Amino acid sequence: MSITETSASAFRAFGGPDFPPGFLWGAATSAYQVEGAVTQDGRGESIWDRFCSVPGNIADGSSGAVACDHYNRWTDDIELMRSLSLGAYRFSIAWPRVMPSGTGSVNEEGLDFYDRLVDGLLAAGIQPFPTLYHWDLPQALEDRGGWPSRLIPEAFADYAEAVVGRLGDRVTRWGTINEPFVVANHGYLTGEHAPGRSSLADSLAASHHVLLAHGLAMERIRAMTPGADVGITVNFTPAFRISEAPAAVDRFQVIDDLENWWYINPIAGLGYPARTSERLAWDQAEVHADDLAIISRPIDYLGVNFYTRKLIGAVEGERHASGPETAMGWEVHAESLGWLMRTLHARFAMKRYYITENGAAMPDAVRHDGRIADDDRIDYLRAHLHEVQACIADGVPIDGYFAWSLVDNFEWAHGYKYGFGIVEVEPTTLARIPKDSAYWYADVARTGRLGAGGER
Ligand code: FCB
Repeated sequence: MSITETSASAFRAFGGPDFPPGFLWGAATSAYQVEGAVTQDGRGESIWDRFCSVPGNIADGSSGAVACDHYNRWTDDIELMRSLSLGAYRFSIAWPRVMPSGTGSVNEEGLDFYDRLVDGLLAAGIQPFPTLYHWDLPQALEDRGGWPSRLIPEAFADYAEAVVGRLGDRVTRWGTINEPFVVANHGYLTGEHAPGRSSLADSLAASHHVLLAHGLAMERIRAMTPGADVGITVNFTPAFRISEAPAAVDRFQVIDDLENWWYINPIAGLGYPARTSERLAWDQAEVHADDLAIISRPIDYLGVNFYTRKLIGAVEGERHASGPETAMGWEVHAESLGWLMRTLHARFAMKRYYITENGAAMPDAVRHDGRIADDDRIDYLRAHLHEVQACIADGVPIDGYFAWSLVDNFEWAHGYKYGFGIVEVEPTTLARIPKDSAYWYADVARTGRLGAGGER
């Protein structure tokens, strides 16, 4: 038993908290999913505005044009977070607000919004944790080739510089990119996300350029604010093979490499997974001489997004899981988060980790006296936080956790059908109504203990 483990359990035995003092309790959102106000104050068009305008791309025909109107209701949302005792807010900055054409002139009014938001958060005692890119590429840059083009990482570094120039005197923790896998895979291979392109070659080029963007932006941030922490958020879906068939072995290799190791390996200095790179016949022509050195400069933290695991057989859809599922059909499997964090730490020994997203879309159908009794979401959050707690006790340095999401919001190609929020957003008035999970989570944030509560 390690010293931390001994003291953590001793702490608990004497009625102390389950989590170390200073552990960051937060909630997360992203710009296009919550802000709305897509034409306000000089914001330029993003690939998501364009993608949503094509019939059939979004299940319910909706868009983020209004979303939660966070852009105009941010003071209320800060008050909401304060009332829920949250210590940090992970949000993203919309590139098209800051640089409407992707490069060149800066829209000061766009930056003003984030300036006010950061000041408001700090005044409320909530740490701002901005991510520079959560999928809303300026459409003008897509028109110049999008992420498969090397122009984009260079433009991203300039955009990062503009943002840090304005906010870097107050923001001390930056995230560069959210989920590089989803950017390259959903945007340029399957086409289920904006910009809706489907080409393996484009997707592979995009995968490299997203990482290069991270590396170049990190260099600029460090040069401008040497004391700030800079990291990236990678999503992981731990994959487990459930068949010995050669087809299963083959599928497993490709899926596991692309979804889990394609991004973290180069960040950790190991380059792209060789077997899968060869299997996909990628000649790596986009990888220039110094790129991997830039990509593998040490990060201050790794942000981890975790929702579910994946069981892989010889054919797609073969699965043996029989546990509970979320409203989106994602298996609830908290143990996989524990497995993931221990595996990441054993392989890469990062300085520190944040769980930058974790949460569940649940039916939210049970209502009593105006209360939204989302016990299933409480169970989900509690089970995952138990895993986080156990990992910390085992010596994995996890310094914070962000529930996805603060509010129900625009869930990309699914539109508004699924709510991940701990707070409901009433569809017509956009009123914020905390669910029972929000009250439960507030108790956890306040006490550092995974109580049973959830009552008002
Ligand atoms: C993640 C995204 C986030 C949200 C959740 C459910 O992949 O980062 O924006 O859509 O999934």
